[in-house]
Amino acid sequence: MAKWIKSINEMKRIIKSYKKNGKTIGFVPTMGYLHEGHISLIRCAKKENDIVIVSIFVNPLQFGENEDLDKYPRDIKRDLTICNNEGVNIVFNPSYEEMYPEDYKTYVVVEDITEGLCGAYRPGHFKGVTTVVTKLFNIVKPDRAYFGKKDYQQYIVIKQMVKDLNMDIEVIGCPIVREHDGLAMSSRNKYLSSEERKSAVSLSKALFHAKNLFEKGETNPLTIKKEIEKIILSYPKVKKIQYIEIIDPKTLKPVSKLKKGDIIALAVFVGDTRLIDNIEL
Ligand code: PAF
Repeated sequence: MAKWIKSINEMKRIIKSYKKNGKTIGFVPTMGYLHEGHISLIRCAKKENDIVIVSIFVNPLQFGENEDLDKYPRDIKRDLTICNNEGVNIVFNPSYEEMYPEDYKTYVVVEDITEGLCGAYRPGHFKGVTTVVTKLFNIVKPDRAYFGKKDYQQYIVIKQMVKDLNMDIEVIGCPIVREHDGLAMSSRNKYLSSEERKSAVSLSKALFHAKNLFEKGETNPLTIKKEIEKIILSYPKVKKIQYIEIIDPKTLKPVSKLKKGDIIALAVFVGDTRLIDNIEL
C-alpha cells in the first residue's frame, strides 16, 4: 500500500530515514487525475530507483485568472488506487495551506525560455510551475524526477532551473503516451464532448503528417506550418489555433530551416478546451 501523506514535516521525516538507509528516490510530480502518461512515468521511476514518490497537488499558482483551476478534474481515491497498483511507496498530497501558508512570499523564475510558446499565452504559468516544483524538490529530495514530454517547454524549463540552481537532481523526460488514435494523453481530455474528442485527434494527425513531410525532404517552416494549419482547421470542433511553432529543442527559439531533432509544438482550442502536443523531428 502506498502511504498517503499530507504533511510536509512528515514527508521530510520519512525522506530523511530513506536517505539514511541509502535508498534512491524517484519522484513523479503530478496534479492528479492520473492517466497512462503518468503511469509510464511511475514505471520508469520504479525501474531506476528504490523508492517512488508521486505528488498530487493542483497548484493554483500556475493557473491564470480565466483558466480551469476550479474545474480541473480531481479524483484522489482513483489516483490512490492507481498508485497502489503501480507499487508507489508514497503519495504526497498536501493542501493549499500546507504549501502556501498566509505569509508565503518566495517565487522562482526562469527567464527567456519561459517567454515563448505557452509562456506567451499563459503569463505567470511557468513561475507557478518552477516555484511549486522547487518546493516539491526541497521536500522530497529526489535523486531523479520524471516529466512527460507532452509538456515539452515545462520539461526544458525544469531542466534549466535544476542546472542553474545547482540542484542534485537528474531530470528525466519521458515520451508522450498517446491514445489508440494518436491523441496525447492529458487530464484535460476529460473536458472534451464526444464530438470534440473526434476533432481533438487533429493535433496529432497534423504533427505526424508534418514529420512525414520533413522525412521526405521539406525543410521550410512556413510550408510545414501551413500544412499543419490546413489539417487542424479541417476538423469541425476546432475553435482556434493558438500557436504552431517549430523550435530548436534546447533554446526553444523558432528555426529558419528544419533539422533533425527540432520540435514542432502547438496549442489548439477544441471547443473551450486548450490542448497542447508536440513531435520531435
Ligand atoms: O505537469 C504538471 O502536472 C504540473 O505542471 C506539475 C509539474 C506537477 C507542477 O504542478
